[in-house]
Amino acid sequence: MLVIMSNQNYFIHPSAAISPQASIGEGTRIWHQAQVREGATLGHNCIIGKGVYVDFDVTIGDNVKIQNGAYVYHGVTLEDGVFVGPGVILTNDKLPRAINPDGTLKSDADWEVSPTLVKRGASLGAGAVILPGVTIGQFALVAAGAVVTHDVPDYGLVMGNPARLRGFVCPCGHRLKEKEEEEKLDGGIRMHCPICQWDTVVPRELWEAVR
Ligand SMILES: CC(C)(COP(=O)(O)OP(=O)(O)OC[C@H]1O[C@@H](n2cnc3c(N)ncnc32)[C@H](O)[C@@H]1OP(=O)(O)O)[C@@H](O)C(=O)NCCC(=O)NCCS
Repeated sequence: MLVIMSNQNYFIHPSAAISPQASIGEGTRIWHQAQVREGATLGHNCIIGKGVYVDFDVTIGDNVKIQNGAYVYHGVTLEDGVFVGPGVILTNDKLPRAINPDGTLKSDADWEVSPTLVKRGASLGAGAVILPGVTIGQFALVAAGAVVTHDVPDYGLVMGNPARLRGFVCPCGHRLKEKEEEEKLDGGIRMHCPICQWDTVVPRELWEAVR
């Protein structure tokens, strides 16, 4: 059953736990057993799937889709139009410990958060793990099951564990190809989408880094 929160233009399933200190944008839908913590900001028209966890102070833009069972921890920012596949984990502390050397429990204040940024339109495939402090470029595509340890360039396609740059993708999702005449400009390589004909110039050093 859907619940329409009074005076608000968004939907929250009754089994979801939404902090009153979270901000939820118009048109956003939050499904079964999701948790959104205090200080989190969700933009307009987002879809937050079953069992998703959104940690405190996380910032999420407009039109973001987070699939079932994904975890978005403190320190993470998702820009507009980001897709987070099922079971994705966006981490925040590179050297996590439950206890101090003296055996006492670490508090939230002891947690060393490295900010993680996922830029506009990027997609994270199912089960991907994003290490702390990484920036994922706009419309980049992270393959299912990848473990991302380094920044991903705009339109970059990364795969594997550790994730490696394997190519470039169009905003429509398909792989970009080099122009047949392999147009090499001063600054880089012109690539185009055989499906929608969109094109862009990829910096030479990135093009050469594809494996
Ligand atoms: C990465 C991805 C975009 C590649 O798609 P593609 O460009 O069509 O690539 P192909 O399927 O032609 O595979 C090319 C090669 O990459 C490998 N490959 C494909 N996906 C892979 C992945 N996730 N991790 C590692 N290798 C992968 C293939 O095995 C193949 O290698 P091979 O030639 O040695 O057999 C796609 O496989 C993927 O992971 N998409 C995300 C799906 C997802 O999580 N969706 C969430 C919605 S539920």
